[in-house]
Amino acid sequence: MCGIVGYAGARPALNIVLDGLRRLEYRGYDSAGVAIVLSGDTDDGDAAGRRRPGELLTAKRAGKLANLEKALAEEGAHGLRVGATGIGHTRWATHGGPTDRNAHPHRSFDGRVAVIHNGIIENFAKLRAELEHDGIEFASDTDTECAAHLLARALQDAAGATPGEKLAEAMRIVSRRLEGAFTLLAVDVEAPGVVVGARRNSPLVVGRGEGENYLASDVSAFIEHTREAVELGQDQVVLISPTDIVITDFHGNPVEGKPFHITWDASAAEKSGYEYFMLKEIAEQPHAVAETLLGRLNETGDLMLDEVRLTDQDLRDVDKVFIVACGTAYHAGMVAKYAIEHWTRIPCEVELASEFRYRDPVLDRSTLVVAISQSGETMDTLMALRHAKEQKARVLAICNTNGSTIPRESDAVLYTHAGPEIAVASTKAFLTQLVACYLVGLHLAQVRGVKYADEVAAIIAQLQEMPEKIEQVLSMMAPIRELARDLAEAKSVLFIGRHVSYPVALEGALKLKELAYMHAEGFAAGELKHGPIALIDEGTPVICVVPSPRGRGVLHDKVVSNIQEVRARGARTIVIAEEGDVAVKPYADHLFYVPITPTLLAPLVTTVPLQVLACEIASARGHDVDQPRNLAKSVTVE
Ligand code: F6R
Repeated sequence: MCGIVGYAGARPALNIVLDGLRRLEYRGYDSAGVAIVLSGDTDDGDAAGRRRPGELLTAKRAGKLANLEKALAEEGAHGLRVGATGIGHTRWATHGGPTDRNAHPHRSFDGRVAVIHNGIIENFAKLRAELEHDGIEFASDTDTECAAHLLARALQDAAGATPGEKLAEAMRIVSRRLEGAFTLLAVDVEAPGVVVGARRNSPLVVGRGEGENYLASDVSAFIEHTREAVELGQDQVVLISPTDIVITDFHGNPVEGKPFHITWDASAAEKSGYEYFMLKEIAEQPHAVAETLLGRLNETGDLMLDEVRLTDQDLRDVDKVFIVACGTAYHAGMVAKYAIEHWTRIPCEVELASEFRYRDPVLDRSTLVVAISQSGETMDTLMALRHAKEQKARVLAICNTNGSTIPRESDAVLYTHAGPEIAVASTKAFLTQLVACYLVGLHLAQVRGVKYADEVAAIIAQLQEMPEKIEQVLSMMAPIRELARDLAEAKSVLFIGRHVSYPVALEGALKLKELAYMHAEGFAAGELKHGPIALIDEGTPVICVVPSPRGRGVLHDKVVSNIQEVRARGARTIVIAEEGDVAVKPYADHLFYVPITPTLLAPLVTTVPLQVLACEIASARGHDVDQPRNLAKSVTVE
């Protein structure tokens, strides 16, 4: 939610900042903007010599980054292209509509500083009133602009041996006054060569280069230039210059950042020939799932989750599991509930993270709270985990983003290792979250010794076959693509499933809503008759995710009955069933088979056709698949 990038070095900052923004655009695309301070020690300017060194230049436009780039090209941004320091922002609007005037950067009243921001400054109304009372006129409706004016005022008497240190001190003064969540970056015309950042509850990471340094919301912004990064903690201020990275807390006490090496390379964050990131990420799922499993099973098939950092005794003491997550990650949690309760016999509740802390849940030292988050920055999930920790529960994060806030604040973490997910709609993150949840459930079961020991051992072996099965599903997607063109004009699409196929139905509907902007709803198949069946009209597409006829066969038969019920009322049935399931054939207008898979693991294969279907329908309707309207990856506001 909002992408932020800063650069201090000798190369032309504009291109580096724009490249960084291109890679961060998935975080928000309501507007984009840059601020560049020309270096004080160069007299480079544009051909006509119009730019002076030490000048602060800003440009910003509503809409996608392409609008800003077009404006820069049209307006002749030559002066911006010289060796300089820069910051850039791509916005997901909170305060103030997505207009040019509300786009970041925001300049201070004296024009001296430019600021970009991710998050919400909760006390902005009070701060704005105070500044307006002092005669400062606002040029936007944003909360961010307060920070720019406050910074300029704080700079007037901030202490520091150099202009850069003064900017850092002013940032500390301002940060102490701000309430809410924020990442701020600022440049000061008096401090060319320096970018200062502050972080509270919003992401910010440092990239360490050779004679240049970076700041960004996530590492994809600078991965092309360096794979050495430094994690920042909460309530910290960082100053970067071409040669230095100086980190302090909000009171000026020096702090050591935690260095880390980025293991994936720049190509992981590129489309590599695919039309959309989403298609690439769907195709990467077999590999991503294999990565989640990698190194977590020993040669005898036992799970080795030492990195989870909870002792076997801790795990034996667990008497209740709560899973907290949002959106797609919540659906992964819903599947996990079936698996964890079955394998461990420990009660497991799944909660929307945004609701969790407000209903006063009963938690104590023997509660294990599992927080699932691809980004590791989702504010609702973060707040839920903080609440759990206050109640003394132990928190285990399942996360895809190394060093992000949620794993940092948890007692333990299981990384999914899915690689960067750029498309806003989650795909490979979902499958890898499922695998991580299975691993947690199986580990708990193994440590505690359980009733279904044989089944647990068999499932561990079967999990390793899943990458190949997902690959098989992917090779059978041509008829789904064809069907997608046919469904593109449907008014509404319903999804039904039972047991673990119920969350799969919810996930299928969510994908279709967010990508195709169509009415889509997922139901527990057994619930249809309690109301939703009234929605079925002649030709209404109903996507039915059918459990395996083996094992829990009773579930299969019940869903087949539900399919007959909707068909009898005119529905057009699109059935996803297990290979060899002939019983569903007579009731399926369209039938897609997936490989034979144990019931609890089936979501790993049944979800894939629904992802492809949503992606293809959205594309057929002419939508931007990777950047659906109104959304952003990584939702860092509550
Ligand atoms: C939907 C989607 C969202 C996220 C949700 C949680 O396709 O991507 O529903 O799953 O916003 O995000 P994370 O996992 O980053 O906490």
